Amino acid sequence: MDIQGRTFLISGASSGLGAACAQRLLQNGARVIGLDINACPWISDSALWGQAQERYWHGVCDVTNESSVEEVVAQGIRQVGEVSGLVTCAGILHGERLIGRDSLASLESFRRVMEVNVVGTFLLARIAAASILRRLEATMPQGDDEDNGVLVLTSSIAASEGQVGQVAYAGSKGAVAAMTLPMARELARFGIRVVAIAPGVFETPMMQGASPKVRDPLLKSLVHPKRFGLPEEYARLVEQVVENSMLNGTVLRLDGGLRM
Ligand SMILES: NC(=O)c1ccc[n+]([C@@H]2O[C@H](COP(=O)([O-])OP(=O)(O)OC[C@H]3O[C@@H](n4cnc5c(N)ncnc54)[C@H](O)[C@@H]3O)[C@@H](O)[C@H]2O)c1
Repeated sequence: MDIQGRTFLISGASSGLGAACAQRLLQNGARVIGLDINACPWISDSALWGQAQERYWHGVCDVTNESSVEEVVAQGIRQVGEVSGLVTCAGILHGERLIGRDSLASLESFRRVMEVNVVGTFLLARIAAASILRRLEATMPQGDDEDNGVLVLTSSIAASEGQVGQVAYAGSKGAVAAMTLPMARELARFGIRVVAIAPGVFETPMMQGASPKVRDPLLKSLVHPKRFGLPEEYARLVEQVVENSMLNGTVLRLDGGLRM
């Protein structure tokens, strides 16, 4: 699917991987509806973004809140148009052992991780698919594109090799990975593809907050290159997923050979 002139809904757009995806898609001529629980810090840098600012609309909402997400996305669609693609990057990391020294793992934390990482992804996939279908009903598909839409979900390599303390996080990312194929099968008849990306470790505020005790062994486990991924490298794979029609119903690792 061509990126130019299309509208993309991106969650977690204020930081890290989501911000990099929004910037890359804007650079390629897309319109973007960014969602995040926080305001967008990077779009006010007009020297960098110039006219792209006019193609970006930012909505503040918690991706777990159904009515708020629906309201904010509807507002964004009124501003920049029905969507052709989704990139879900809103997510939270949580580490906790099932059986701690003094207490059992918090059920509240487990539920929150599932809510943000799984329910948030599900809600946005539903909303984005509905928007793509409205667009198709209103307009004939344009150009030579085989695709009418693409949903890109963010999983993690923790989905298949979660570490001690990652029961909630790995479980949530496993759910995102497992949702990918049934979504792709269901939406195929509308010409909508669904792909998940499973990043290894990326230099974003999420990982920059981790202690050397967590970071150093991960750096040592990398095969090549011996560094964490850059958000731009994630965004380049998203761009490829959007443009390459043969990528569908799969989970793509992007990890420098890291096995946790
Ligand atoms: N950085 C990594 O190493 C790495 C590795 C594997 C997977 N991931 C996944 O990639 C995604 C993006 O992570 P990142 O590294 O860019 O982290 P990040 O913390 O830099 O960005 C996450 C963004 O999501 C937003 N967010 C969090 N909860 C939200 C909510 N309830 N509603 C709306 N927005 C919310 C945050 O405000 C933030 O802007 C996450 O799903 C994360 O689990 C990251």
